[in-house]
Amino acid sequence: TDAIKDSATFIVFGASGDLAKKKTFPALFGLYRKDLLPRGVHIVGYARTKMDTEEYHRRITQYIKRDNDPSFDFKLEEFKNLSSYVSGGYEDSESFRRLNARLEEIEEGYGTSNRIFYLALPPSVFVPVAKHASQECYSRGINRIIVEKPFGKDFQTCRELLNDLKKYWTEEETYRIDHYLGKEMVKNLLVLRFANVAMNAAWDKNSISNVQITFKEPFGTEGRGGYFDEFGIIRDVQQNHLLQVLSILTMERPVSFSSEDIRDEKVKVLRAIPPVKAEDTLLGQYVAFNGKPGYLDDDTVPKDSKCPTFSASVLWINNPRWEGVPFILKAGKALNEAKVEVRIQFKDVTQGIFADISRNELVVRIQPEEAVYLKLNAKSPGYAFRAIPTEMDLTYKRRFTDSAIPEAYEVLILDALKGDHSNFVRDDELDAAWKIFTPILHWIDGERPKPDSYPYGSRGPERLDAFIEQYGYKRTQE
Ligand code: BG6
Repeated sequence: TDAIKDSATFIVFGASGDLAKKKTFPALFGLYRKDLLPRGVHIVGYARTKMDTEEYHRRITQYIKRDNDPSFDFKLEEFKNLSSYVSGGYEDSESFRRLNARLEEIEEGYGTSNRIFYLALPPSVFVPVAKHASQECYSRGINRIIVEKPFGKDFQTCRELLNDLKKYWTEEETYRIDHYLGKEMVKNLLVLRFANVAMNAAWDKNSISNVQITFKEPFGTEGRGGYFDEFGIIRDVQQNHLLQVLSILTMERPVSFSSEDIRDEKVKVLRAIPPVKAEDTLLGQYVAFNGKPGYLDDDTVPKDSKCPTFSASVLWINNPRWEGVPFILKAGKALNEAKVEVRIQFKDVTQGIFADISRNELVVRIQPEEAVYLKLNAKSPGYAFRAIPTEMDLTYKRRFTDSAIPEAYEVLILDALKGDHSNFVRDDELDAAWKIFTPILHWIDGERPKPDSYPYGSRGPERLDAFIEQYGYKRTQE
């Protein structure tokens, strides 16, 4: 696939929505100020809201967090000058013809017209916008479309959506974001695994007892309850972000680092995972605590909602490398801390030589404070011969003091410009991921089992520790 080099126009659909505000515009600006966008870049916001350029620029200013960089104001001014706005409907050709006319005007003077259509939209308008963008706004240069979850609500609806989108955009033109794939430590998994013999040798059921992939957020669904209640934590985080991490963590070594070789291996391992069983799942929902509201206190949430805001699900991989190793995916809102990590717990040392000694654990902390550390036992320094738990610690901010870790969305937008699909989700990956979770989701939607309550700001449902221990996890000594 060709890289877009000299000029590019980004068309951000849903320019006044949440995603554009929080992620798309800040990422575009972040790339712009680092001179990472093509020289001839333009950004066109598109949404239904009517507003003039002045108002639009005022909003962009609000979306972008000011910092102390002396060139900030200057760069922001420049960025605003490259940004314009078109308002129009999402479902009528006429609006898109107007948009196209505007794009042609902007691109006049550039030899090429490369367009990146960024859909920061609610799913109800994915298909019409994809359709009209392709029919009315397709340029003679390179055209690409960026879309982001939700990709349906289960296997079936996802497949239908993919098929609908394929009528207008080829797989090659399509960039499906799962922003976890843009995170530094998720990308680092490939290097940790495949550039280190020491890691690679211990990477299987012979050495590993259990793996936890954990996502914790210290805030609830505040303001997003309406969206969230339709989806729940499994669809919001586990089925996509955590499963992506799992697939990179467990796939076989790809033939090369080309996007298709990597994605082939991810799909293979996902297809070896049978659907999650109800008995391998623990669901929770947060309740008010310490002045913080419960999930059901959110006005946009139905009063009798059973929607899980926490879930721990255990997955098994039916292949020779991983047979019998439980992968515990935990995700929850309104917990005690913000943390995303992978925790690989190794097996016990064979009995008979040490009594009561901790297991090794390799922890990859994805955020905050990116780190890789290995918990291991060492001789306690001194005359006594005694093993004590300690760790080898690669905390990024201490080890790589002058490297800034880029924002996931910046990384992904750059990849889309380059035409590199490695960190985007292929259609068959989505199929495989949905197959793992669709039966349990249908069961939850149908049976509406009552989730365990947990207080806002706690570690999760009380049964969590016992649940995890059931799968062989042993608490290690600090
Ligand atoms: C989004 C979910 O995909 O990921 C949100 O919809 C969640 O509910 C977010 O908060 C987490 O992303 P990050 O990058 O903050 O870990």
